[in-house]
Amino acid sequence: MAEHQPVLIVDFGSQVTQLIARRVREAGVYCEIWPFPRVTAESLAAFGPHGIILSGGPASVTVEDAPRAPGAVFEQGVPVLGICYGQQTMVHQMGGRVALAEEHEYGRAGLTVRDSCALFDRVWTPGDTAQVWMSHGDRVEALPEGFRVVADSPNAPYAVVADDERRFYGLQFHPEVAHTPDGGKLLRNFVLTVCGCRGDWTMAAFRQESIRAIREQVGDGTVLLGLSGGVDSAVTAALVHEAVGERLTCVFVDHGLLREGEGEEVVRVFRDRFNVRLVHRDASYLFLGRLSGVDDPEEKRRIIGNTFIEVFEAEAEKAGGADFLAQGTLYPDVIESVSFTGGPSVTIKSHHNVGGLPERMNMALVEPLKELFKDEVRALGRELGLPETMVDRHPFPGPGLAIRLPGQAVTAEKVAMLRRADAIYLEEIRNAGLYDSIWQAFAVLLPVKTVGVMGDARTHDHALALRAVTSTDGMTADFYPFDAAFLGRVANRIVNEVPGINRVTYDCTSKPPGTIEWE
Ligand code: XMP
Repeated sequence: MAEHQPVLIVDFGSQVTQLIARRVREAGVYCEIWPFPRVTAESLAAFGPHGIILSGGPASVTVEDAPRAPGAVFEQGVPVLGICYGQQTMVHQMGGRVALAEEHEYGRAGLTVRDSCALFDRVWTPGDTAQVWMSHGDRVEALPEGFRVVADSPNAPYAVVADDERRFYGLQFHPEVAHTPDGGKLLRNFVLTVCGCRGDWTMAAFRQESIRAIREQVGDGTVLLGLSGGVDSAVTAALVHEAVGERLTCVFVDHGLLREGEGEEVVRVFRDRFNVRLVHRDASYLFLGRLSGVDDPEEKRRIIGNTFIEVFEAEAEKAGGADFLAQGTLYPDVIESVSFTGGPSVTIKSHHNVGGLPERMNMALVEPLKELFKDEVRALGRELGLPETMVDRHPFPGPGLAIRLPGQAVTAEKVAMLRRADAIYLEEIRNAGLYDSIWQAFAVLLPVKTVGVMGDARTHDHALALRAVTSTDGMTADFYPFDAAFLGRVANRIVNEVPGINRVTYDCTSKPPGTIEWE
């Protein structure tokens, strides 16, 4: 990546470090996130960053053993931007003073611009006021030599500081979050204007470089890939196919628990349009048989995960095996996060993935997306010519519709009912132009029968819940506030068009305390 003038983000454990990386990449600049202990003079020399950003973090600079930026950061001759904790440790390490603030400042704050600064280029001029998002307990109280204040806020007299000579900058607020509306432009100015990066890291460039790298890794070997119907495996398949053509075999194990039309689309796009060598195994009867009578969510996940591996292995063997296994691992899965809390976290749900496959099958991995965020994967999918319906699709859990039948066993009839209701709901969401504003929307068939009346007859059928949430990463979520007319329209269609359902409710729980899926 050296040819793309990368930027390094040094992580001190902030919840929003990944957002810094996304803003930097939106400016067309490649960047990586490293936990602070990984930064040494040698690792920096090997990576060759054109600029360094120090993230926020939960620690207090005033504590003796608080994490510090490795000294090498300030000795590269490249610009450094400290954000929140990053600003405080930079100021402290350069000889300034940081103290516990009397008043902690969390949330929106009004910033006043006092002087011009390269970061503000074409964004703010002296005298402007702007909204920013603060979240800090410490604050800077005296600046090191060479620094000046260029903006302040009522609780942060050193909200933005600059040392123009050394090109060191510090922001007390978080420019990476949406609550700092101009924050993206400040980060853009840092990487393009201050660091002088060209901004030439595009998906078109990534595609070409990635194809070269896959060819180099695979040589004359063969590659196997499990298609799931989701975005990540689809984009990986299209990319690897472009790189190695016929030497890629895709195995699509259809567990019969996909959304409506999804399985057919996989076959249509990959076999018919891209001409990929595709093994399509309809194993729905096998999965349904093994799930028979099982109503425990973790047991469902375990059965589906194990059966998937078993069928995949059998199909791979029939196809003659392969030297490599391609997987759609993304960057958020490989970032080493710095944890200050320690201790094991509680397993809320065991998310099924096929992570055990490569060791079992003794294959080397090809993971071309492991430097990308989800939105970049979508952009790459478009670049590769995948259909929009496949690229912009909401996330879908590996165990599929099985975990949208809470508290009950999976049967073919229930899956069919749920799938139809889900399709009507998604169709109405698309028709209303809301699909892209929602992270995930789906129906959940409840194990409750309720009384209704249709025509003159009494009905005794299932109730269905609708769920729609907004989120940036699935870790936290808010319910989507549909208007009543929309919900009424969807409920009316489902009750009229799906026999077996006579009542529709809407789930308005956020995460936490709820989770996105019902089980
Ligand atoms: P929860 O329900 O934990 O979901 O709030 C967060 C995100 O993870 C998805 N999810 C799964 N994905 N296997 C998966 O591959 C699973 O078992 C699983 N359970 C939940 C969920 O759809 C949401 O996007």
